[in-house]
Amino acid sequence: MSIPVEAARAILRDNDRGGYTVPTAGLYPYQWNWDAAFVAMGWITFDEPRAWREFERLLEGQWADGMVPHIIFHDPKTEYFPGPDVWKTRGPVPASGISQPPVLATSVRHCREAARDPQLAEDRVAALYPKILAWHRWWVSARDPERSGLVGCLHPWESGMDNSPAWDAAFARVSPTPTTVIRRSDTGHVGAEMRPSDDFYKRVVALIDLYASLDWEPRRLWAHAPFKLADLAINAILHRANRDLLALAERFGTAAERAEISARLETTAAAINRLWSDAAGLYLAFDLISWQPIEAPISASFLPLWAGVADAARVRTMAATLERWARKLRYLVPSTSPEDARFEPKRYWRGPVWCMMNMMIAEGFRAGGAVDIADRIKADTAALISRAGFHEYFDPETGAGLGGGRFSWTAAVALSWPLIGGAAGA
Ligand code: DGY
Repeated sequence: MSIPVEAARAILRDNDRGGYTVPTAGLYPYQWNWDAAFVAMGWITFDEPRAWREFERLLEGQWADGMVPHIIFHDPKTEYFPGPDVWKTRGPVPASGISQPPVLATSVRHCREAARDPQLAEDRVAALYPKILAWHRWWVSARDPERSGLVGCLHPWESGMDNSPAWDAAFARVSPTPTTVIRRSDTGHVGAEMRPSDDFYKRVVALIDLYASLDWEPRRLWAHAPFKLADLAINAILHRANRDLLALAERFGTAAERAEISARLETTAAAINRLWSDAAGLYLAFDLISWQPIEAPISASFLPLWAGVADAARVRTMAATLERWARKLRYLVPSTSPEDARFEPKRYWRGPVWCMMNMMIAEGFRAGGAVDIADRIKADTAALISRAGFHEYFDPETGAGLGGGRFSWTAAVALSWPLIGGAAGA
């Protein structure tokens, strides 16, 4: 069982569209925000200038207020829905109007430490650092205006976990009556049984229509959003990213910036820990409108491990929870618990395994001392890719590859974790 390194590199090269990498040809023809961060970790293993270019192209889309959009529509085409004509944003380049889990600072730090050309890395990171700081400040000002320590997610696509069952109740408050006519392109590339439903598309597009009518102005979005929740992926990834930004600030920032980031880290660690559920043996997202925990055990429930905020007892409890899930499945980590009635092993974020989630969860467990479960997740990831190929996601019961093929972040995870070169399971 082996994963050929050349095959993974070839996927990144084939998906390169001139300094940015599409997640996969056809289905996702633009640059996606958190995809770009993972993809750069793949590029840095064999083409350093290209890795730094990925970040620069992403930040071409950064708004004046610091927001980094979730899709940058470099070279707009009609083959993706909803395109720039639906989003109606006014940033420096055509883009969506929401953001995505901020993996960027973590990736930039990783690439700086992995770089074999330290002068190139030094120059590039010096230019990237203030832009990342501006984005992290945007999360606080636009998405935590009450300074609770948790940022709000205003759209299922902002969480990156589009049709997760964790959003079902919150999403039911969004009316399925968009003004934009729906013309889905995704199901022309991938079977409808692996994609979100038509009802989901009506509601995600209705949210875009609403926010576009509010001119994408953060205060108005915050006041009028019918979908507003504290998602674990964004919050845990942002906490981790702030730790990595603080490390970069030691070299590139000021004392005042380091103090600002450190203070925010203290607040966010405490706030994430308030999302712990003894009954679930996991962290749970929180609905900021109903003001209730969201009782849905999903893979993001483990991401506070990646943030490094869980104490030893919680790490052990989470390992036991995941070991219980593992008894019902062949491959970890399913995006929804197999114990949950909403689990669907083939449908996008309602059950399938995603490799970049596996990397964050496994390395979170490892850092917390739970090495056995970390090794199991890593070995499962290597087995999935070597048996099925570099798919977008995988069936946790059969291991079948699902969604888009020749997928960039899957190739990047294989290169950077690394799952290649005999290191799987190590
Ligand atoms: C899609 O088009 O399904 C994307 O996930 C949106 O970000």
